[in-house]
Amino acid sequence: MTLLHVTGARPNFPKAAPVIAALAAAGVRQRLVHTGQHYDDRLSEVFFRELSLPTPDLNLGVGSGSHAEQTAAVLVGLEREMLETRPELVIVYGDVNSTLAAAVAASKLQIPVAHVEAGLRSFDRSMPEEINRIVTDRLSDLLLCTSADAVAHLAREGAATESIHLVGNPMIDTLLAHRHQLDSERARRALGVPADYLVATLHRPGNVDDPESAAQLVRVVHDAGARLDVVLPLHPRGRAVLEALGIGDHPRVHVVEPLGYLDFMSLVQGSRAVITDSGGVQEETTILGVPCLTLRPNTERPVTITHGTNRLVTYDTVIPALDEALIPAEPGARPHRTPPLWDGHAGERIADVIIDWLGEQVPR
Ligand code: UD1
Ligand code: UDP
Repeated sequence: MTLLHVTGARPNFPKAAPVIAALAAAGVRQRLVHTGQHYDDRLSEVFFRELSLPTPDLNLGVGSGSHAEQTAAVLVGLEREMLETRPELVIVYGDVNSTLAAAVAASKLQIPVAHVEAGLRSFDRSMPEEINRIVTDRLSDLLLCTSADAVAHLAREGAATESIHLVGNPMIDTLLAHRHQLDSERARRALGVPADYLVATLHRPGNVDDPESAAQLVRVVHDAGARLDVVLPLHPRGRAVLEALGIGDHPRVHVVEPLGYLDFMSLVQGSRAVITDSGGVQEETTILGVPCLTLRPNTERPVTITHGTNRLVTYDTVIPALDEALIPAEPGARPHRTPPLWDGHAGERIADVIIDWLGEQVPR
């Protein structure tokens, strides 16, 4: 009996690491496929090194392309893999194209699917991730949720109650497991950044693909740089357009390559505030208590607002919101709570759900 984990893009890796570790500790046989959706060392390999992920048994090497090209290449590669290895269960993570393709490939072969981070909804189908989430959830037999709102969405959409499990957030397992290795002082000194600084990450198509939006982003980042130094580890998507618009042409804006997990989380932990459009960063800042300004019209992670430090902003409201976040607060004046079950043990709970489920299956 073998379980198959499918990962492919940067946000998959910190989610998969604690699940794979917990299942390994329970003695379950596992295979790991990397689709190759992300392939740069800084978006991929570095996470395997730093998060002690096992070397993938197979890398499909699908690389970049249009949504159809990328999804189709993963489908073809995974169908072959699943026909050869016949896993009992395929475990998929988050909302990237590799996640969707793995769920489709497995379902067509009648192989059950477990979706880690099921039920998140932005209700915005202009985001490719929203389509990936909806389809993946519809095809999944085990729906493993990070938050109560996700459970409610799935119930409302008619998912079987026994398939839905509130397990907490494995991304936060990874953060808590590595917190002792974070060194904000060293990370910011290595970049020549003063003690007070901001971190920014921007990669959503809605922000970086359109030159007009990208120009607004450049203005926002430069306005932020007029207040404090900004470290911007730039995702390859949008790099060309943002650089052509002069994003780095400001003495206090430090445009760097994407960072490894430990350097990145060290910088976030030590920062005064974060400006982002990332999904994971909204969750990590919630735990670290760092103000998070999310440049998006919506979020599929509302618990980061109700419990955490997150706030949705526009190109017009981000700088006033930043000024507010930078006002030194009395201790306890900005309370934030840890969302339920974001306690470092989601991986173990996921492993328990999967092992119980395997025990209930009639042998084929
Ligand atoms: C993908 C996910 C997004 C996630 C993001 C995390 C989808 C639809 N999108 O977006 O949900 O938030 O990853 O980082 O799955 N590129 C490189 N090197 C790489 C990978 C990509 O240079 O290793 C460049 C290529 O020019 C590529 C572009 O980045 O065309 C976009 O890559 P892609 O995987 O299609 O989507 P992301 O924008 O990375
Ligand atoms: N991350 C990192 N280095 C960076 C930017 C991000 O290690 O330079 C980590 C961080 O933990 C983040 C995760 O990668 O939560 C996923 O990042 P991304 O924003 O690419 O994906 P999303 O969560 O938006 O899908």
